[in-house]
Amino acid sequence: MEIVILPSADAVGKVGADIFERVVRSTEHPVLGLATGSSPLPVYTELVRRHEDEDLSFANAEAFCLDEYIGLPVGHPESYHQFIRRVFTGHLDIADTAVHSPDGTATDIPAAGRSYDAAIAAAGGVDLQILGIGTNGHLAFNEPGSSLASRTRIVTLTEQTRTDNARFFDTLDDVPRYALTQGLGTIMEARHLLIVATGAGKAAAVAAAAEGPVTASCPASIAQMHPHVTLLVDEAAATDLVNAERYRYVYANKPEWQAS
Ligand code: GLP
Repeated sequence: MEIVILPSADAVGKVGADIFERVVRSTEHPVLGLATGSSPLPVYTELVRRHEDEDLSFANAEAFCLDEYIGLPVGHPESYHQFIRRVFTGHLDIADTAVHSPDGTATDIPAAGRSYDAAIAAAGGVDLQILGIGTNGHLAFNEPGSSLASRTRIVTLTEQTRTDNARFFDTLDDVPRYALTQGLGTIMEARHLLIVATGAGKAAAVAAAAEGPVTASCPASIAQMHPHVTLLVDEAAATDLVNAERYRYVYANKPEWQAS
């Protein structure tokens, strides 16, 4: 895992956007894996700016979202289908039909999971997958205890995750209890994982994911088994990293080795 400690969330946004930009400019048909939540927002904001100011085009790109709530009506503003368009893809030149989400409204949810994995494979697989980390170490909606080889499937959200996400809803009761999420096995097939985490609330999860044992108790720790992972954190999220000084040293002295 290449671990880069940066001074601020804005810096995470810029370095993360650099990684996206390289993939988008160098790939004929870039397949981007998108995450919701607050963590990727600085990256998305910077990419929208580069699209508007620097002609960074996403016209040839295709995107796959990580997950979707089950039980929200089509068009609900907090569905991830709507969220990703509002904060990111709706501001780009990517075709709306090229932005895919798991279908949380499907009557046959297991079949919807299987067809989502098949659609990713048919697109050629994900070139670059951005990921946040839940405070309990979840990736997408793969909660602690998820199989490290899991595929896109229905999951029950933990109370921790529902409480964390309650800020997007009127009341905690409005937060769905189930979601359709790419599995850890699905996510691990992306060619490059870009994990972003900012703020002190993520410090424990970041340390467990990057330096703890690989365990279903911290689903994000499976990323240690991936051949190409970049973890971008701000200073607050880096607080619990035991090897922080070494990560800082490498980035300061050999930046070309990192964030590529
Ligand atoms: C959500 C999403 C995840 C996200 C995580 C962290 O529940 N399903 O994909 O990474 O929680 O969210 P945030 O970035 O807002 O802290």
